[in-house]
Amino acid sequence: MQAATLPQFGDANAFEMTEIPMPRPAAGQLLVRVKAAGINPVDYKTRSGKGQAQRFTLPAILGWDIAGQIVDAGVGAHKFIPGDRVFGLSRFPEPANAYAQFAVVQEQEFARIPDNISDNVAGGTPLAALTAWEALYDHAQLQTGQRILIHAAAGGVGHIAVQLAHNTGAYVIGTASAQNHAYLRELGVDECIDYHNVQFEKETAPVDVVLDAMGGDTALRSLDIIKPGGIMVSLPSMFKDDPQLLAKAREKGVRVQWMFVRPSGERMEHIANLMASGKLQVKVDAAYPLREVAKAHQALESHHIHGKVVLIP
Ligand SMILES: NC(=O)c1ccc[n+]([C@@H]2O[C@H](COP(=O)([O-])OP(=O)(O)OC[C@H]3O[C@@H](n4cnc5c(N)ncnc54)[C@H](OP(=O)(O)O)[C@@H]3O)[C@@H](O)[C@H]2O)c1
Repeated sequence: MQAATLPQFGDANAFEMTEIPMPRPAAGQLLVRVKAAGINPVDYKTRSGKGQAQRFTLPAILGWDIAGQIVDAGVGAHKFIPGDRVFGLSRFPEPANAYAQFAVVQEQEFARIPDNISDNVAGGTPLAALTAWEALYDHAQLQTGQRILIHAAAGGVGHIAVQLAHNTGAYVIGTASAQNHAYLRELGVDECIDYHNVQFEKETAPVDVVLDAMGGDTALRSLDIIKPGGIMVSLPSMFKDDPQLLAKAREKGVRVQWMFVRPSGERMEHIANLMASGKLQVKVDAAYPLREVAKAHQALESHHIHGKVVLIP
């Protein structure tokens, strides 16, 4: 089968298309024909030698988001049958070899793709949707009537988080470039802030929750608009435990929680149900054939993707 492999960590041109042996499913595993593999920022961070690179041996096959069709099942894997369409965040953060025509996945990390959802949309969903879910419900315990500020609201995690928050009955404020504001209002954002032209912390009344997809100065300034007792859930791990941020949070009486998303088939079922009923719409900004993986990585690294980028093996 064909796979996009990385002989060395490097820039987006480091990938090579290679012929490799088909994997075989062990107990509890499924062999899946990959229909779409979603790309996330952790993919290009890992490709460049950062992110989760220390977990890979070279040549490496990247990718964790998979939508595909089951071809075979290992002993004890009974949840699905060959032909079923499934999606999930595979083995994250361990290598999962999603940038290939076939992949072996853990059955318990996957769920059925609703009939009304395309392979491309399903492939772009798992990591971003699981992150938004964990941030809003496990960490922030977002409640109806609360105010939440979501940074990078038009991005992969952001555009899903705004829909979950809106469905929960929260008042949603999102930061994004002006050209995305109409789209974000359609998704349920109550107040859009153009972070290029205004200081978000001076534009809106205090909030209960911030979902921080940026870190650095954005995270620090976000603490100025969180109510005492409120929480900021922070995603970029490079800023984890930043002493300046923690000191300011203590002074303001707010909590800062870093998180690291985990795979879950059960969660994927909840997400699938929301997608099936139209309450969650995942947007695919661009889909590339696997051999154009370099272009796909460059697109995501532009930092102005709206929704998701997927690869089609
Ligand atoms: N810890 C975890 O478990 C975890 C999980 C998922 C993601 N993450 C991290 O979270 C971050 C976001 O991930 P993602 O997939 O959502 O990224 P993404 O899709 O690449 O984000 C792109 C978006 O960022 C927006 N943006 C760029 N600069 C901004 C700024 N200064 N203020 C507000 N928005 C800005 C852009 O908005 P405009 O085009 O509107 O300007 C664009 O829509 C990444 O660092 C990723 O690694 C961590």
